[in-house]
Amino acid sequence: MVNLKEAERIGVSIDPDLLERFDEKIKEKMYTNRSEAIRDLIRNFLIENDIEKKGEVIGSLTLIYKHEVEGVSKKLVRLQHRAKSEVISSMHMHLDEDLCMEVLAIKGEANDIKKMSDKLTSSRGVKHGKLFLSSTDNVF
Ligand code: NI
Repeated sequence: MVNLKEAERIGVSIDPDLLERFDEKIKEKMYTNRSEAIRDLIRNFLIENDIEKKGEVIGSLTLIYKHEVEGVSKKLVRLQHRAKSEVISSMHMHLDEDLCMEVLAIKGEANDIKKMSDKLTSSRGVKHGKLFLSSTDNVF
């Protein structure tokens, strides 16, 4: 999307302590200025709040799990095959003797992806799961 409008300047009142913490954090995150950090926050806010209204979305799900828990590996594969959303690609890493990390790239309806993510994340043996959803629409 080409945006031909000129950027608008806005003034925002912020508590100095809050601004100080924000400045420290954006420095850590390598932002060169506040404007870019604030634009990113606004984009994230808009995408996260609108994602369910979009048709097809894309996402990634990262799962950390104990592969020795009985049946967990099979269950994770079965859930992925049966899900309405499409798992486009997956990457598996053996972290140590017990733990595995799996990263899934997923395409589908936001609600279907969330359902699949919930089922996978709540499976026995899965220690941590985090879903990221995005859309190719309106990423300005
Ligand atoms: Ni493994």
